[in-house]
Amino acid sequence: VSAPDRSVTIIGASGALGFGLAARLAAAGVAVTIGSRDAERAVETGIRLRELCGPHSAPVDCLTNAGAAAANELVVLTVPFRSHHETVIHVAETMREGQLLVDATVPLASSVGGRATRMLGVWQGSAAQQAQELVPEGVRVVGALHTVSAEALAALGHPLDEDVLLVGDRRADKQRVAALIDGIPGLRCVDAGRLEMARITESLTALLIAINIRHHTHSGIRVTGLPEVRW
Ligand SMILES: NC(=O)c1ccc[n+]([C@@H]2O[C@H](COP(=O)([O-])OP(=O)(O)OC[C@H]3O[C@@H](n4cnc5c(N)ncnc54)[C@H](OP(=O)(O)O)[C@@H]3O)[C@@H](O)[C@H]2O)c1
Repeated sequence: VSAPDRSVTIIGASGALGFGLAARLAAAGVAVTIGSRDAERAVETGIRLRELCGPHSAPVDCLTNAGAAAANELVVLTVPFRSHHETVIHVAETMREGQLLVDATVPLASSVGGRATRMLGVWQGSAAQQAQELVPEGVRVVGALHTVSAEALAALGHPLDEDVLLVGDRRADKQRVAALIDGIPGLRCVDAGRLEMARITESLTALLIAINIRHHTHSGIRVTGLPEVRW
């Protein structure tokens, strides 16, 4: 296993999930490249991130999506499903063989005006599988972070205590993503199977939203019965 990645790109870092993730990673010493459709919004997000994380956080770069997608080996995608297709097509132009696209997008009906507790049908089966169809040969997709609340991530003083389900067709890819995400205190990555399991992991978001509405909380998930050594 190679050394964990110490830098990452987040496409959609100005949004709730991307920003919360950027904050936790920067606080854990990972250099973050912010990607936005708009250069000014990327810079504003960088300022917000440095304010939240303080002077000792890791370096933060602010780029538009095309440059950001080429800047690091790991590229996390946190955009609304309605812009998923066009965003993946756009970043695919600058991505190259060997990079991993970590897709956190969920095809919630709310992304097209419906309920946040309902899923949209996606021909390929899931957003992550749609992404895999659109990226260049040699770029592989790992689905992740669907059950992690943006609010819980952004509240840096709030301790996290939950699992992150990773789905992807190669174990080594999931291990690489786990090496990054496990660096955030309180998160534990679990290999949840092939990329096709994204159908299930993405839909867990809708389930957790239904739970959150009833219990006024930001719930997460925890898998029991796992061995100590998981990779
Ligand atoms: N929020 C959560 O707790 C959570 C948890 C798990 C999974 N997710 C999933 O993660 C993804 C992002 O969720 P979010 O809550 O972070 O969304 P969000 O706050 O709406 O932010 C998404 C970001 O995506 C970019 N974007 C690209 N195309 C867009 C478009 N057409 N309209 C609006 N924004 C666009 C925007 O960045 P620029 O304008 O800078 O390009 C925006 O800041 C979604 O698929 C969601 O289902 C969210």
